[in-house]
Amino acid sequence: MTDRYAVIGNPIAHSKSPRLHAAFARQCGQDLSYEALLAPLDGFAATVAAFRDAGGRGMNVTVPFKVEALQLADRLTDRARLAGAVNTLCFEADGVLGDNTDGVGLVTDIRDRLGVPLAGARVLLLGAGGAARGVILPLLDAGVESLMIANRTPDKAVQLIAPFGIREGLHAGGFGMLAQHEFEVVINATSASLADAGLPLPQGLFADGALAYDMVYGKGETRFLADARALGAARFADGLGMLVAQAAESFLLWRGVRPEIGPVIAELQQPG
Ligand code: ATR
Repeated sequence: MTDRYAVIGNPIAHSKSPRLHAAFARQCGQDLSYEALLAPLDGFAATVAAFRDAGGRGMNVTVPFKVEALQLADRLTDRARLAGAVNTLCFEADGVLGDNTDGVGLVTDIRDRLGVPLAGARVLLLGAGGAARGVILPLLDAGVESLMIANRTPDKAVQLIAPFGIREGLHAGGFGMLAQHEFEVVINATSASLADAGLPLPQGLFADGALAYDMVYGKGETRFLADARALGAARFADGLGMLVAQAAESFLLWRGVRPEIGPVIAELQQPG
């Protein structure tokens, strides 16, 4: 019998996940089905339970249910607990495992696909919302030399790193602290790009050869990427690779095989 998976969210019609997982399944010769499930805003747990009862093996979870999914899971990975959100559910015989593959997707995309080393790198993360929170542990685990988190509301950045305790090289504050610092990797995890708003980035922020990475995708050259170009960044990426890589990590968790992300990213970059 074909194993069933789904992505659950509200809205869900525009999710790329069914297309991604169909491509992975073809590539890896895996027999599975993957559908998009719209859950009512007050019906997340019931929709998950119905899918599981019908033989579902696992789910991806998207907006606005990632925090509810954390509460629903019987067991959590460390990276899901520290992210405060779950994007992958795995239905196992003894309960529901909740994981979060967003951060490891970002790390895989930067390090393995773009070939930009994270070990020993000075990394700047802009923003302190859910998107930023989810990537802190995977970036630290990648062996960065330092991780600075800057946010418009400085206190939120400070609170974000509190669970990590005092850790050498981990700093948080407002944009003002960026003066006199330079970074090999600068990641925009704010939602400023969605509103085409600029961020107060100082001259000298980008080290030679630095990568500017915007987690937003499908918007062409965002304001952040354009500003980064003007400030001397050398390499640029939007969040499409992260999207594909987090899906690949979910696929790995469910199926025990890691799909190659490069061909699938190339396919998504084709128009139509
Ligand atoms: P998400 O879950 O996508 O991270 P969020 O939790 O609403 O969304 O967080 C949005 C982030 O973008 C926050 O860090 C926010 O800064 P504040 O904490 O100060 O609100 C940041 N952000 C949004 N618009 C911004 C702007 N115009 N300039 C700077 N930061 C902005």
